[in-house]
Amino acid sequence: MAAEASPWDLVVIGSGVIGLTTACLLQQRLPEHTNITIVASEFPNPSPMTQDSSNIPLAPAASSGYASMWAGAHYRPIPYLSPSNSQYGSLSGTQQRFQSQLACEHHLAIRTAKMMKQLAREHPETGIEIMPGVEYLENPPAENLALETGDVYASLDDGFRVITATEIEALNKRAEHDIGRQIKWACKYETYVVNVHVYCAWLLQRFLSQGGRVVQRRLHNVGEALQVIPEAARPIVVNCSGVGLTPDPKMKIIRGQTILVRNQYHSTTTRQCADGTWSFLIPRPLGGGTVIGGTKQVGDLETSARPEERKRLLDSAVRCFPDFVSDVKDFEVVSDNVGRRPWREGGMRIEVDELVQGGARIPIVHGYGAGGRGYELSWGAAEEICKLVEKSGKPHARL
Ligand SMILES: Cc1cc2nc3c(=O)[nH]c(=O)nc-3n(C[C@H](O)[C@H](O)[C@H](O)COP(=O)(O)OP(=O)(O)OC[C@H]3O[C@@H](n4cnc5c(N)ncnc54)[C@H](O)[C@@H]3O)c2cc1C
Ligand SMILES: *[C@@H]1O[C@H](CO)[C@@H](O)[C@H](O)[C@H]1NC(C)=O
Repeated sequence: MAAEASPWDLVVIGSGVIGLTTACLLQQRLPEHTNITIVASEFPNPSPMTQDSSNIPLAPAASSGYASMWAGAHYRPIPYLSPSNSQYGSLSGTQQRFQSQLACEHHLAIRTAKMMKQLAREHPETGIEIMPGVEYLENPPAENLALETGDVYASLDDGFRVITATEIEALNKRAEHDIGRQIKWACKYETYVVNVHVYCAWLLQRFLSQGGRVVQRRLHNVGEALQVIPEAARPIVVNCSGVGLTPDPKMKIIRGQTILVRNQYHSTTTRQCADGTWSFLIPRPLGGGTVIGGTKQVGDLETSARPEERKRLLDSAVRCFPDFVSDVKDFEVVSDNVGRRPWREGGMRIEVDELVQGGARIPIVHGYGAGGRGYELSWGAAEEICKLVEKSGKPHARL
């Protein structure tokens, strides 16, 4: 009984969007356990758009391993086939498992969208903005072809609309000579975009103003996190370390190279090209410029930007989105970016585990592996992580 009353000492590893969102939600959900520390090697930094009079960024760039500083970031739903769909039966077991992973992520994304849109409306200083999302597909899969105008795509009342054949024809007219690159399916809906520097700094500020504590340190293993709370009577560790602490063999990185330009676009727009490459424009709210992307390279460890990829991305943006700029030289480039998406095969690991240290068994709750979806899943994932923290903190859960 006495144990139940004493507060837990929560230490969250990681100050990316997942660790920050989780830490803020823990403060809100468990007000009697507000003794929370975030330990991380890196914390939110300002955008390279923040420059001195000679265009030198005011702060050094984050490392590529700190994914949250390199995201666009927008919310682009990933459609999936449900078991009721006639095509579902013809999928292999692996494909069906993947579809059910996407269905779980869809629920996290819908919950997150509700929160993000509320923040955009009530607190525009978070750097979140509600914006139209547009998608052009040159080689649409069955999941997209199954969608109809009026479906719930990104969130309830998102005004989802499949763009008509006549409109597509008009779009393709601009590139009539380029038969291999014609749009075959397109859609439009309401979504949101995030200025990641502003938003992560806002989350950190909110955490600190609620009594949270931060420690900047690089850990060699999860157990070292306990050293930052040496007085803890009832420690619980939350592992939101992205790709930084890597014994999990299911963890891979997906390299993403993008370009930040000062030019400001008006809607978050993605084109999935027939050759498997992607071209996208993600405007960053509050005058944060536009992110032009991007590559998705599994296991590619190169941390510097490749000039040939930069050229391809800029050329492709001019070709795919002719209403933005008419020539590559019209782009005002601010920075070349390389980030590592912390991707986990089979989806995010949101799970309770145990850390055995000096004979003590300490609960550890994992929350990592969001890949390219960390922002759009953040609040939904944080809710699941919080539930597991609550459960593992209950005395009967301790062994
Ligand atoms: C180019 C690109 C575009 C993207 N676009 C989008 C998008 O549009 N929408 C979207 O939702 N997502 C997008 N993402 C994905 C998104 O950035 C990630 O899913 C998200 O940032 C993951 O957050 P995280 O908190 O798990 O990890 P991270 O942001 O990587 O944070 C990890 C934290 O753990 C700390 N850490 C790691 N190892 C250690 C250690 N050993 N010791 C101490 N601390 C440690 C780090 O310092 C950091 O604070 C994009 C990613 C990239 C690269
Ligand atoms: C903590 O997170 C990392 C991902 O950064 C993962 O590889 C590792 O297995 C987790 N730690 C433990 C002890 O499970």
